[in-house]
Amino acid sequence: MKMTPAVIFAGSVLILAAVVAVVVVLPYYHTNQTQPSEIFRPRTDAEAAGRQIYIENGCVYCHSQSIRSIDWGLGAERIADAGDYVADRPILLGSQRTGPDLSQQGGEHPDDWHMAHFANPRYTSPLSIMPAFAFLGEEKIQELTAYVQSLGMKDADRRMARQNKWKEQAVAAYEKGPDKNVQWLHDHVPETWRKMANPYPTTEGGLARGHKIYQDFCMGCHGPIGDGMGPAQPYLYPPPLNFTVLKDRGITGGILYYQIMNGITGTAMPYFKKHLESEKIWDVGNYVAEYFINQSDAGEDIGGIDVSYEP
Ligand code: HEC
Ligand code: HEC
Repeated sequence: MKMTPAVIFAGSVLILAAVVAVVVVLPYYHTNQTQPSEIFRPRTDAEAAGRQIYIENGCVYCHSQSIRSIDWGLGAERIADAGDYVADRPILLGSQRTGPDLSQQGGEHPDDWHMAHFANPRYTSPLSIMPAFAFLGEEKIQELTAYVQSLGMKDADRRMARQNKWKEQAVAAYEKGPDKNVQWLHDHVPETWRKMANPYPTTEGGLARGHKIYQDFCMGCHGPIGDGMGPAQPYLYPPPLNFTVLKDRGITGGILYYQIMNGITGTAMPYFKKHLESEKIWDVGNYVAEYFINQSDAGEDIGGIDVSYEP
């Protein structure tokens, strides 16, 4: 065939059309066939408004919203499915994990934790490098919170229902005063833990470690002197515990450990089992016991764990 300008033109158009078909039309056709996954549900208006704020403020530059099978190290609870994203335009999968993955964020914390965290992330997480979003104002922060609490869709709704159920009880217990509140808090701790002393004896090194961990993880809520008056306090209800109320109320190292490890659902108290190794939990527990409660059972032999540890 003779390469006339018309033939070259027609050939170029054909090549372009083929490329567009493979790169645009076929994928579009294919993704349009995606069926909603079993956790899918449409967003409410507040959640959709929050998603817009998420896009406008570049949250996607630090947070992914997709857990892959290789991400089990994150403690992944659900491998993302294309059907989770059918309503998303644009999809916010993200490629950076400067902050944690948020695809299952809904119900991880109660709403009050998010209000404090968005106002200033260092209130709840003293080492955070996430920017403060107080400038958005309360209404937008509420919408943003509604959005992050919807991540995980039906699974998130189940977790939120659990948070709200426990919050009601936590608030009721708090309003009945310290005796009833401490009793309520400790009723959730299994008996073995309630009777367990901190197996590590108090040492200068252990207290120094505990002090540092307290500053890095706890101070924004429980406050520098353990009275529950950290900067997050005005946002949280029930407010962070004033540790001094625990004195002479049956507190043990085991209770402190159990609560720090698992958190207290329905309150802003997060679980720390993903952040702190076992020894660090004992150390920060003993720091709280020695300095704020003024009553420590560290190293006492009242049964429980017999550690293979030489102080
Ligand atoms: C500069 C990076 C950065 C940006 C931008 C950013 N974050 Fe974060 N985010 C982090 C880091 C780091 C953490 C972990 C420490 C903490 O809790 O603050 C975090 C934590 C979080 C958490 C708590 C996760 C958990 O369960 O502990 C949520 C929710 C969150 N970010 C939402 C957002 C939203 C919504 C935006 C946008 C308005 C945003 N982030 C913008 C870095 C960022
Ligand atoms: C985001 C705020 C927040 C952070 C951060 C936080 N706490 Fe709490 N903490 C709370 C709240 C709220 C409660 C429950 C108050 C209530 O229900 O009366 C609580 C309760 C507790 C209890 C329960 C005491 C008991 O006798 O049952 C312990 C122990 C505790 N916190 C220790 C810690 C330690 C140690 C850290 C850091 C590793 C920490 N908390 C970080 C908010 C927080």
